[in-house]
Amino acid sequence: MKKLIIVIFGASGDLTKRKLMPALYSLYFTKRLQGNFSILGASRSNYSDDAFRSYIDNELHNFLPTKMQDKELIEQFIGHLHYHTMDPAVEEQYKGLDECIMKLGGSGFDGNILFYLSTPPVLYGVIPLHLQSVGLNTKASRIIIEKPFGYDLESALSLNKIYEGVFDEHQIYRIDHFLGKETAQNLLAFRFANGIFEPLWNRNYIDYIEVTAVENLGIGDRGGFYDHVGALRDMVQNHLIQLVALTAMEPPAIFNADTFRNEIVKVYDSLKPLVEIDFEDHIVRGQYTQSYYKKGYREEKGIPEDSRTETFVAMRLEIANWRWSGVPFYIRTGKQMPTKATEIVVHFKETPHKMFHCKEGNCPKANKLTLRLQPNEGIVLGLGLKIPGAGFEIKNVTMSFDYNQLGGIPMGDAYARLIDDCIQHDPTLFTRSDAVEASWRFFGPILEYWKAHPEAPLYGYPAGTWGPLESEGMMRYHHAEWSNPCKNLTDTDKYCEL
Ligand code: BG6
Repeated sequence: MKKLIIVIFGASGDLTKRKLMPALYSLYFTKRLQGNFSILGASRSNYSDDAFRSYIDNELHNFLPTKMQDKELIEQFIGHLHYHTMDPAVEEQYKGLDECIMKLGGSGFDGNILFYLSTPPVLYGVIPLHLQSVGLNTKASRIIIEKPFGYDLESALSLNKIYEGVFDEHQIYRIDHFLGKETAQNLLAFRFANGIFEPLWNRNYIDYIEVTAVENLGIGDRGGFYDHVGALRDMVQNHLIQLVALTAMEPPAIFNADTFRNEIVKVYDSLKPLVEIDFEDHIVRGQYTQSYYKKGYREEKGIPEDSRTETFVAMRLEIANWRWSGVPFYIRTGKQMPTKATEIVVHFKETPHKMFHCKEGNCPKANKLTLRLQPNEGIVLGLGLKIPGAGFEIKNVTMSFDYNQLGGIPMGDAYARLIDDCIQHDPTLFTRSDAVEASWRFFGPILEYWKAHPEAPLYGYPAGTWGPLESEGMMRYHHAEWSNPCKNLTDTDKYCEL
């Protein structure tokens, strides 16, 4: 293998220890990352190589699953780590970085560098320019940028302009770790490797679709960051809308980075724009408040006591195209909910005629397909079947597939998958510039409206509950109902706190 140097800006930060280093080590563990490589941490904190190695060594023990904790292998991996103290904001310090990289690269090094930007977003605009100033934007290099890519449409456009001036699009990897999740990718396999669902996957048979990504934790130590961002920028504009796109997209004729991402952009471009008059009807934003055992958002560290940042968003989207016209997509995310779960629920239409008599509570329900992305990864189909015995009494039952049935193959880590793809020069699962822009084009006006109308409703919900009642109201208005994971799936009760 040609020498590869992975440079992590923000190497002393939280993401590096929690996600990036465990992901890189897991690639090493599975022999996807081998031989001639170095990982260079580049941050302001002052570390020697040895101090950085021992810091990462400790953290790996905290964050790696037990089955990967191979002491000898961790030691070998740690031997590939190096550290360069620098302020990534200061152009003059890039000469030193260049020298350090060239030294690590050795003779014959062809510039095979992967830059990972795990810094505060304010640095996303300057780092590529500084890299360019010392010629580190080599033809063989690529750059991964963490989300959020931009703060709104304008800033995303100007970031794209900067990046496109320094790198070619195929070298730019805008990461959205939801696309690295095995179960998100499986959505494509489920839809396009099976013939039976496609004929039903449209407005003729589907009543409505839910996309939920909720968490049972608050914002932890991220107050300073989160209060400027909020749930819409943190989760909806990227992760949730990606899941909507995977659910709604057309099958590309051939599968590759361009054709796949073309279809994603087509979904974003088909989102029916929301105008102000729709906002109250289509969007519910909330903020968690103190409950008997949990802090409220405004009591969290670094949060002003009059903050109006949303920690919950529920929305009704419409995709204005031939396949989906008239099918609402209800999406929802929230912090401090009763459980952590990400799932997509497809509600099929009721049978056109009810021929079986039924007793209250045991009437056939419309079929429902639940794609559980995490945890308890699997797929559950709700069906009505006959109860054995006299008459024709119907019971609603489920048929379910659990990922564990695949024989205990461990669910790959999203970051490991995506970093591996980037090392292999495969941008398929990364967000292209036009997708970022299309997404901001849709969500930007909502953010602008909230900014211009701080008095617009922000509903409180006690920490540990399913969000503001208004979000239930939004669904009921359209005769729909949220499928709360704890309420409906008995086998998920074990991870539900209620
Ligand atoms: C991140 C958000 O992108 O995704 C976090 O910034 C959120 O606020 C996280 O907690 C959720 O990711 P996952 O993979 O744990 O569901």
